[in-house]
Amino acid sequence: MRLVLLLTALAAPFAFATPASSCGEHKLKERIVPPRGWTLHGPAPADHIIRLRIGLPQPNFPELERHLYAVSDPDSERYGQHFSKEEVDALVAPHPESVSRVDSWLASHGFNAEDIERSSAGDWATVRVPVRVAEKMLNTKYSVWKHAASGDYLVRTTSYSVPEEVHSHIDVIQPTTMFGRFKASKSTVHSFEPESAAAAVLKNAVVSTGAARTIDNPNGGPPVDASCNTTITVNCLKQLYNAVGVTAKPAKGNQIGLTGYLEQFANEADLQQFYADQVPAALNTSFKFISVKGGLNDQNISEAGAEANLDVQFAFGISFPTPGTFYSTAGRPPFIPDVGTPTDTNEPYTDWLDFVLSHPNPPQSISTSYGDDEQTVPRDFAVRACKGFAQLGLRGVSLMFSSGDGGVGDGDPDPATQQCFTNDGRNATRFIPGFPASCPFVTAVGGTTRIPEFGIGFSGGGFSDYFSRPSYQNKAVGKFLAGLPKGTYKGLFNPRGRAIPDVSAQSNRFRIFLSGRPVLIGGTSASSPAFAGFVALLNDVRLAKGKKPLGFLNPLLYSKAVSGFNDITTGNNPGCGTPGFNATKGWDAITGLGTPNFGKLVKLVT
Ligand SMILES: *[C@@H]1O[C@H](CO)[C@@H](O)[C@H](O)[C@H]1NC(C)=O
Ligand SMILES: *[C@@H]1O[C@H](CO)[C@@H](O)[C@H](O)[C@H]1NC(C)=O
Ligand SMILES: *[C@@H]1O[C@H](CO)[C@@H](O)[C@H](O)[C@H]1NC(C)=O
Ligand SMILES: *[C@@H]1O[C@H](CO)[C@@H](O)[C@H](O)[C@H]1NC(C)=O
Ligand SMILES: *[C@@H]1O[C@H](CO)[C@@H](O)[C@H](O)[C@H]1NC(C)=O
Repeated sequence: MRLVLLLTALAAPFAFATPASSCGEHKLKERIVPPRGWTLHGPAPADHIIRLRIGLPQPNFPELERHLYAVSDPDSERYGQHFSKEEVDALVAPHPESVSRVDSWLASHGFNAEDIERSSAGDWATVRVPVRVAEKMLNTKYSVWKHAASGDYLVRTTSYSVPEEVHSHIDVIQPTTMFGRFKASKSTVHSFEPESAAAAVLKNAVVSTGAARTIDNPNGGPPVDASCNTTITVNCLKQLYNAVGVTAKPAKGNQIGLTGYLEQFANEADLQQFYADQVPAALNTSFKFISVKGGLNDQNISEAGAEANLDVQFAFGISFPTPGTFYSTAGRPPFIPDVGTPTDTNEPYTDWLDFVLSHPNPPQSISTSYGDDEQTVPRDFAVRACKGFAQLGLRGVSLMFSSGDGGVGDGDPDPATQQCFTNDGRNATRFIPGFPASCPFVTAVGGTTRIPEFGIGFSGGGFSDYFSRPSYQNKAVGKFLAGLPKGTYKGLFNPRGRAIPDVSAQSNRFRIFLSGRPVLIGGTSASSPAFAGFVALLNDVRLAKGKKPLGFLNPLLYSKAVSGFNDITTGNNPGCGTPGFNATKGWDAITGLGTPNFGKLVKLVT
């Protein structure tokens, strides 16, 4: 084997120049219709370099899933008995036959063993290839596609094939058909405005009279500062969610993590200003920054990202002094056609997953405020990324994702560009769930606002077209569906799909610091890190008592923990030309089970 590889190398001083493989017929792997809003711009330059990620099947995944539910079900004897990195890696390892077939296929295109980058479980193999080689390998033609609304370009294809011998040994290859656009600050961060004059006046009035005006806490417990109805601070969330005076006691190994994409990173100076304003005890403390695949961390204050600042300030502010980690994953913009230099392309979720799964002790609570319209993410890819999230769950990590900011749609008010149509050539009207929120192995966090809280209109909610309803949702979601007027939105959503969100939290008018100034900001981008902060506080208590971290939350949330949530029963989430779903008693497709009552949850879970 070694000799063969050596000969290949000698015969091909330019590895990529090896003639096409002697493999048999190519067989179609995937064909898609590009999502609305993308137009063909021109052929892809032959020398443009692509990082081709090849996902090998994980034949033991059903076993992994059984273990995941066993360790996440609070009634199971095995609750909390999470698996180590090595144990999880063994459960997702590909069959050796798949590895050798894929390796021979790659060798036939001139790749040596050292050209192949592998994930720690060996279930992903990545090679860097110029477009012309990828086109031969996949019997396809790449093009440059332009996204009308943003002006972004991508190098993609609408179908690809692989030789018969490797067809069943490969789950997915990307970037090929992936047109997903990770959305954050511009669309997910909802409001972005200087602190309103009214809020400032109110704050000053409170300070000058010395006696904070308060309002009744509709969620029970002590009253809430009146200012919380217009401006959300860390204290407001602790008051509203029954966690007054709760501070983590840096318990054994507890950590909280946040992920950043799209060249977003948090500004340290802004964080210190935020701490001075809202969490004085945290002044002069910071967090760990980890760059994944060259993710940036420019501390020039005018370059800080609103999304990253929001996440860091609230998640770390609530959970202080729990050690925090911010992961900055590279990956945008993938392609600039007017610039001569070929740039890299990648799928940031899987890059981040590879990275975090390869480490022995990831943070036990991690929030991500980025998402795509589910239908723009190819199904094969979504399924694989979702399986990666399951691996983290089995490792004992709780993953929070914002549920999206478009209500039941994509947030685009313009019917001409809105995505509310099926992508399958039929062009039927359809609601747009968000991914990764739609993955059943993550906790999707929707949004509320005001006091008393109601579901905010933009709160992403609905039903997955890719993932079927997990059994932990049967009772709660079945009841919601049974309560819908007969025939409601028939054909617009998949009533058998995984339903989102799971839970919710305040999501509007969060007071953060950005580029040295206080601003108000919102979106489910705000609710996810806020919820994650409370999960970290719950883990802090559990770990202090010698218990295991909560891990994959949903089976617990929908059973034992239901009574630990404030049920939100008003509000609706319009989209796609409809008023969307209503908040109702019990679970609903705008606020999920409701907002957290920390005091109750801590009793239920520790
Ligand atoms: C909070 O603000 C909303 C909107 O202005 C108002 O309807 C509600 O009464 C306020 N809540 C309280 C408790 O004052
Ligand atoms: C934070 O650091 C500054 C500068 O070193 C120092 O003046 C200040 O007292 C510190 N504050 C706290 C709360 O530790
Ligand atoms: C910071 O960024 C701004 C805006 O991009 C730029 O004008 C300025 O020169 C940068 N400052 C430093 C010190 O790099
Ligand atoms: C799909 O339907 C919408 C709304 O009727 C229309 O604007 C759009 O052009 C159609 N797209 C295609 C590809 O037929
Ligand atoms: C929402 O509530 C309104 C008012 O009660 C009702 O007319 C409507 O049918 C409900 N919509 C859904 C989708 O349940």
